[in-house]
Amino acid sequence: MKDFRNKVAVITGGASGIGLAVARALGREGAKLVIADIEQGALDKAVPALIVEGFEAEGVRTDVSDRNAIIALADRTWQRFGGCNVVFHNAGVAVFGPVQTMTDKDWKWSIDVNLWGPVHGTEVFLPRMLKDGQDGHMIFTASFAGIVPNRSLGPYNVTKAAVVALAESLHKDLRSTPLGASVLCPMRVTTAIDNSARNRPESLGGATAAQPYADAESGSLQGRTLSVEPVADLVLDAIRENRLYIHTHKEAKAFFDGRAAKISAAFDNAL
Ligand SMILES: NC(=O)c1ccc[n+]([C@@H]2O[C@H](COP(=O)([O-])OP(=O)(O)OC[C@H]3O[C@@H](n4cnc5c(N)ncnc54)[C@H](O)[C@@H]3O)[C@@H](O)[C@H]2O)c1
Repeated sequence: MKDFRNKVAVITGGASGIGLAVARALGREGAKLVIADIEQGALDKAVPALIVEGFEAEGVRTDVSDRNAIIALADRTWQRFGGCNVVFHNAGVAVFGPVQTMTDKDWKWSIDVNLWGPVHGTEVFLPRMLKDGQDGHMIFTASFAGIVPNRSLGPYNVTKAAVVALAESLHKDLRSTPLGASVLCPMRVTTAIDNSARNRPESLGGATAAQPYADAESGSLQGRTLSVEPVADLVLDAIRENRLYIHTHKEAKAFFDGRAAKISAAFDNAL
């Protein structure tokens, strides 16, 4: 996809942080926006602000872990805009603490939002997009934690590694189609992610079940904290060039190289 003018973009977790910044960047390029988010209050602020900025935008309250909600989101997108070119599978949550303290509810909430969200989004949107036959792109927000697991972020690491694998799989499988796929793998970016528990359902422990942020993501893997705007620009460039991996922090490469070297060295003991 080279041009976003009059293209339709659905952005999950689009009412805050990275999602909202990408929505704004796409809007500036002339895209029509569907902002999907679980947080009604955030949608009520973000969507009117986007409209005041001159963009065509609609908010759809969506829990990405609910397949029926994703179907309703797709239905609404086709009803309002007649199609969809970009899906940014971006909604995500983090639970902090060592693996040995994680409960089934910590795992379930993480997997429901971070993995089932993108899976439902892919399974529901992809056939409709392929049927329309237009240029398009599926883009996923994983994390650098999906490339190199970080301390005290077990369920997050696991789900984000799966999201990297989903994007890698799609990038291969979509080769003969007009669609591309990319995965965003940031280290720290200034957003409300540390306060993810605000959206944790009561049935999965509620807001108070969460451990406070314990310097986990910046603990073992040190790097800068970036603002959302340059990250959004990287996302648009990657879509234009159908680049699979979107890294945001140059300093992360040394951690990846360290992991790759350890995995490679372990082959010395292979049969
Ligand atoms: N901020 C960072 O340092 C960082 C680093 C790596 C990856 N990420 C990833 O970036 C993505 C965006 O997060 P962010 O950092 O902008 O944080 P954020 O909290 O500002 O934004 C996340 C958005 O997702 C929404 N959301 C949460 N649960 C949802 C659900 N079940 N259904 C629909 N929407 C839901 C929230 O309401 C919020 O608007 C996440 O996938 C996160 O894991 C963030």
